[in-house]
Amino acid sequence: MTVKVLVVGGGGREHAIVEALKRDGAEVYAAMKNRNPGIVRSAKGFKLVRETDIPGVVEFAGTCGAELAVVGPEAPLEAGLVDELLRKGVGCVGPSQAAARLETSKRFSRRLLKKHGIPGNVAFGTFQDYGSAKLFVDDFPGELVVKPEGLTGGKGVKVEGEHLKGKDEVLSYVKEVLERGIGGAGVVLEERLVGEEFTLQAFCDGRNVAGMPLVQDHKRAYEGDVGPNTGGMGSYTDVDHLLPFVTGEERDRALDIMQRTVQAMRDDGSPYGGILYGQFMLTRDGPKVIEFNARFGDPEAMNVLTLLQNGFLDVCERVAEGRLVDDVPFLDKATVCKYVVPSGYGTGSKAGLPVKVDERAMADAGACLYYAAVEEEDGTVLTTSSRTLGVVGMADSIEAAEAVCEAGLVHVQGDVFVRHDIGRRELVQRRVEHMRQVRG
Ligand code: AMP
Ligand code: GLY
Repeated sequence: MTVKVLVVGGGGREHAIVEALKRDGAEVYAAMKNRNPGIVRSAKGFKLVRETDIPGVVEFAGTCGAELAVVGPEAPLEAGLVDELLRKGVGCVGPSQAAARLETSKRFSRRLLKKHGIPGNVAFGTFQDYGSAKLFVDDFPGELVVKPEGLTGGKGVKVEGEHLKGKDEVLSYVKEVLERGIGGAGVVLEERLVGEEFTLQAFCDGRNVAGMPLVQDHKRAYEGDVGPNTGGMGSYTDVDHLLPFVTGEERDRALDIMQRTVQAMRDDGSPYGGILYGQFMLTRDGPKVIEFNARFGDPEAMNVLTLLQNGFLDVCERVAEGRLVDDVPFLDKATVCKYVVPSGYGTGSKAGLPVKVDERAMADAGACLYYAAVEEEDGTVLTTSSRTLGVVGMADSIEAAEAVCEAGLVHVQGDVFVRHDIGRRELVQRRVEHMRQVRG
């Protein structure tokens, strides 16, 4: 029996989800706000709809007879899409609104770790008013990070010593967040961590947790890790599913933090099902939690799903039915993903411009293409203000995967740019060297 699956979202992450489901023979339907040409081509049907339009998405799930839904982005999770789909009898890969608080409320996630004594937490305080935040800042011995309490699309966090110079700038940003209500009401102040970041994503069914290969994303817009923070410019994985600067023991500690977090959610009455994304800082004291997301990362999904040449549909069904087992068949290969983004991305994207992709040549080069936030009009692919398309190379080493990715990128033309340094030996080596220094 063919399984009918609804995929919510129209970015690179969701295109990768659609392709992975299709490889396993699923009949895929898509609900998305933009007309992603890759998804349109692979899906049996689609509806252009705001992803937070819960009645609109649920109605479409009913019309196409979806038995299962995979929710890509965080906004519909926060709006309660999963709760509504479950009420209609649709199985879900994605947490309930209450469980999604692990991402949607930074106060909730920090307090959960603290309450349950889960390792990997940082010193922090949560505040609704400027006066008490100021007392905390005045007393805090080290550098701080200022985080709006709720969702800001990855762009609301500011780090002392990077974006903020000294306590005066910390305080004025705290004031701005509170007065302008950036990311909802409230601000979280936390200890600045020093180390290398990595991502650990896991499948969860409320009780069981199955980890995926580690990924490293690149947030800064320009080569050499400079420029504004973005949603992520590209990412890589290694053959052994670790990273060149992370040991197996360190990965296990990060996974243990995620397992305890899932247990804590269960104990507190909001069992967590779906994908849990752990953003970690590897410090000299081991992995510490930077944040959780309630979904696959984007671009990180494009790496791990390319590694899953079969078995994704099966694991999705297991997640939805509460019978997850830790034997997901990721290939023992390395991947490098680079995002092609519109000129100006990070400061002011040039939207509405044509991008040309020679898909045949891209495939001949062995690279995988995932369309992202583009529109398609009369057969022409047009940029929007967000990321345009992801290209993934997969091979027996990071270096070889990087070369495949670049061989694919040659076949993309338009007013766009790419961080070519991602996955190159020089940058990877810099990470290894930095981590060596951090370990002391
Ligand atoms: P977030 O939105 O929480 O992922 O934060 C965005 C970025 O800010 C992260 O990817 C880190 O680079 C940085 N960041 C967040 N929290 C911390 C922290 N406690 N220490 C150092 N950097 C942080
Ligand atoms: N790549 C970071 C994220 O998806 O939040």
